Amino acid sequence: MNTVPDTIILAADCPTTALEDNFPIVQISELGEQESWRKEINRPIYHIHKWWATRLGSVFRAITFGALSPPRTDIWAQFYERHNLAGKVVLDPFMGSGTTLGEALKLGAKAIGSDINPVSTFLVRQAFTRVPESTLRAAFARLDSSVAPAIRRYYQTRDPKTGNLIPVLYFFWCKTVTTPSGEVIPLLSRYVFAQDAYPKKKPRAQIVCPHCWELIEDRYDTTAISCPHCAHRFNPQEGPAESQHVRASGGVRYRIKDLLPADGSPLGHRLYALMALREDGEKVYLVARPEDHALFAEAEERLQAESLPLPTLAVRPGHNTDQARGYNYLHWRDFFNSRQLLCLGMLLRAILEIEDEAVQEQMLCLFSSTLEFNNLFCSFKGEGTGAVRHMFSNHILKPERTPLENSVWGTAKSSGTFSTLFESRLLRAKRYLDEPFELELQRDLTGAKRGTRKTVASAPLDVAHVATYDDLLACDRAVMILNGDSARLPVPDTSVDAVVTDPPYFDFVHYSELSDFFFAWLSPVLAQRYPWMQRPDSSDKGEVQHKDPRVFARQLSRVFAECRRVLKDNGVLAFSFHHSRAEGWAAIYEAVTNAGFEVVAAHPVHAELRGASPKNATKNPISIDAILVCKKRTMVEQRLSEKTAVDEAEELVSRLESSGYRVSSSDRFVVLASQLLIPLSRQELDFEFVCNEIQRAAQQIVPADAQKAARR
Ligand SMILES: C[S@@+](CC[C@H](N)C(=O)[O-])C[C@H]1O[C@@H](n2cnc3c(N)ncnc32)[C@H](O)[C@@H]1O
Repeated sequence: MNTVPDTIILAADCPTTALEDNFPIVQISELGEQESWRKEINRPIYHIHKWWATRLGSVFRAITFGALSPPRTDIWAQFYERHNLAGKVVLDPFMGSGTTLGEALKLGAKAIGSDINPVSTFLVRQAFTRVPESTLRAAFARLDSSVAPAIRRYYQTRDPKTGNLIPVLYFFWCKTVTTPSGEVIPLLSRYVFAQDAYPKKKPRAQIVCPHCWELIEDRYDTTAISCPHCAHRFNPQEGPAESQHVRASGGVRYRIKDLLPADGSPLGHRLYALMALREDGEKVYLVARPEDHALFAEAEERLQAESLPLPTLAVRPGHNTDQARGYNYLHWRDFFNSRQLLCLGMLLRAILEIEDEAVQEQMLCLFSSTLEFNNLFCSFKGEGTGAVRHMFSNHILKPERTPLENSVWGTAKSSGTFSTLFESRLLRAKRYLDEPFELELQRDLTGAKRGTRKTVASAPLDVAHVATYDDLLACDRAVMILNGDSARLPVPDTSVDAVVTDPPYFDFVHYSELSDFFFAWLSPVLAQRYPWMQRPDSSDKGEVQHKDPRVFARQLSRVFAECRRVLKDNGVLAFSFHHSRAEGWAAIYEAVTNAGFEVVAAHPVHAELRGASPKNATKNPISIDAILVCKKRTMVEQRLSEKTAVDEAEELVSRLESSGYRVSSSDRFVVLASQLLIPLSRQELDFEFVCNEIQRAAQQIVPADAQKAARR
């Protein structure tokens, strides 16, 4: 019968793991929040390459430790201890960037990770492969002398002050449209093209004159300028582009999409400024001069003459890909200009000449990372920041009207280039394997936070890479990194101690549509070596991803059912989830229960940077994940509790708030919905009923804005 009793049934009477009875939500949330500010520095192995929606290492350390420890273990008291959970096996069926794997291995357990996406499998393999720093440095030095000079040649300009050639850090471009009468209009919404990230503090900005295209330095908010070069008077805050439209000089307004080139190519571009690096280290803005245009033309010409390993993959239709296809980005190589294609192609060709396969793949991974910051979808973040806003800052594929062209090889003052990412991503990740550390919050006598310190709490991550479950058992420390649909795992029944994962959230990230950007470069060069790189693109029909929550639930349930098969009877399946809509939670209800699990506990913890989930980025961000702890249905002992899910949710929220953690109304909804899954998952209910039940309960403790979102 579809009713939920007022006095609800809570968690199992006889927990078999520490994760079921208590979880240090406050301490782990504080730590997770600290980690999230600089994830790529605090957990560099999971940031060796772009992946979307990576989870926090400290949160997953606590979950994994709890899932492998007996009941009543004080997870927080032992968080910074060295553990050796040898003999335990942890599975992540949605491994992404490998967060669960790394945390399980650091605890001394063995880990199995599987992902359907070939880019994920490739990057996780690279992340956990040890290659001595000296070997990588030697390979880098060889590239530096063989191919770097040819690349650097295309990133230089003449300093008007000295007449010497100096390196270019960034080229500033804007898209252009051509009206039916032949007028070429730049798609600039402002003529201020570079300002500080904190302009009120540092108001100096760079402005381009729309008449003579010379550069002017003035305040970022100035509204009237007379160009010192041509005396043209204009308002730098008003460019011809406005939202989806552009204004021609006669005042006629056009829809930008109506002015796409008739031959099916993307819009044209105009190079108008550069930022270069003077010999004394000063960064200087320069207007693009004929010599700079000629250098680009030379790159264009050379690209035609060279035979380079460039992508040929078409951009397939899809949710995100249509954002780019709508502007005639029909092939992945269209995402790059000719100079980028030439320099990236030359770099890739040189990497492919590295004979040592392990070293070559590390460099390939670094090369692929570099792509994210070197394409026409990047833009300028502003001075005083990392400068380059990479193409996936919003998990979408929206063409950039004012692309920033970074330099592929880079200088010591660059960011997002091959040479700087070598140090900041690749070597940092390798060092983490040797000395994996945890962040520890420092406090003063009053308990207030006073910074962080790094504490080494694990043995070096020196593990064998194995291909079969038997080999996994045979090795002391080992990881098995798989590619494939986790609904069919090459793992025996009841052989895994815990499943710890972070599934896709049905309408959030369209992983394979985005990963095709990298796959287009990697697949042609790795297909001979790895069968899973031989596909037409990085998608697979088994991918859990659907905008219909019921379909999503069925897809997820297939994988959870496989997890149930391989999980030991007293083990837990623990996964993170958040969603602003009731139907997202109803989908989880269906996936869990149809796979034969019940939810026995739900712990709210800090998830990502506030506002980092794009769909809720603005007013009411979700920054809490619920950690849902599930057990096989037959294993759950039931007991009655006096507390309702609403009471439990209120108590959890006040625990977080009284520690100073800011809980938004969307967060409150996440806490409540996850608590409701505990009693709901004990019963056979239909999707609609679960949705209604969650919405009904939300009326009691969730503010109106989040209630409204839940109903959408
Ligand atoms: C939310 S991400 C995991 C992120 C990960 N927790 C991290 O920290 O990087 C979900 C992953 O599930 C993968 N995936 C989707 N369907 C799958 C399936 N049927 N089998 C295996 N992996 C799948 C996606 O490719 C994606 O990498």
